[in-house]
Amino acid sequence: MALLSRAMDGRLRPIIRMGHPALRQRAVEAAPDRFGTRMLRDLGRDLVRTMHDGNGVGLAAPQIAVGLRAFAYYLPGDDADELPPRVLVNPKLTFLDEPTELGWEGCLSIPGLRGLVPRHGLIRVDARDVDGAPLSFEAAGFHARVIQHEYDHLDGILFVDRMTDMSSLTFEEEWDEFGTRKDLPVEV
Ligand code: NI
Repeated sequence: MALLSRAMDGRLRPIIRMGHPALRQRAVEAAPDRFGTRMLRDLGRDLVRTMHDGNGVGLAAPQIAVGLRAFAYYLPGDDADELPPRVLVNPKLTFLDEPTELGWEGCLSIPGLRGLVPRHGLIRVDARDVDGAPLSFEAAGFHARVIQHEYDHLDGILFVDRMTDMSSLTFEEEWDEFGTRKDLPVEV
């Protein structure tokens, strides 16, 4: 809880939506001298605060029109599978299997819509935190999905670009009413 309340100190930033050109640009790496600066720390806090305010589990810097390779995410859940908010800067992904796991995704920049997206089920992540400390770990399943979704934002890619069957694209209300694959996780 301490982590979360500190994170809530951030500023609420407007989230841009699909159609805004900044969502389609490739973000640039944070330069080494940016680590530990007020700018990068504030960006991390703002991402976490804005993500929580939007009830999302991830938010990338380009979604608040900041062209840096950084994103926030967290994993909701009960104790064991919960992961507190975390900010990754300059992440590198290594895919450890084929992108064959289907799961529901949504996006704070595409409000109201969900679709089935194939993702890698197992990835390796090498990144830095806002102070430049290295963060290296493997992520699987929903955890891997959230990271791939957020990472795509850094390259100007949206989840709809990754869909291989557009017939699953659904409004949230209809998903709630008619969704037949609710067993699959949702990223919003
Ligand atoms: Ni998104």
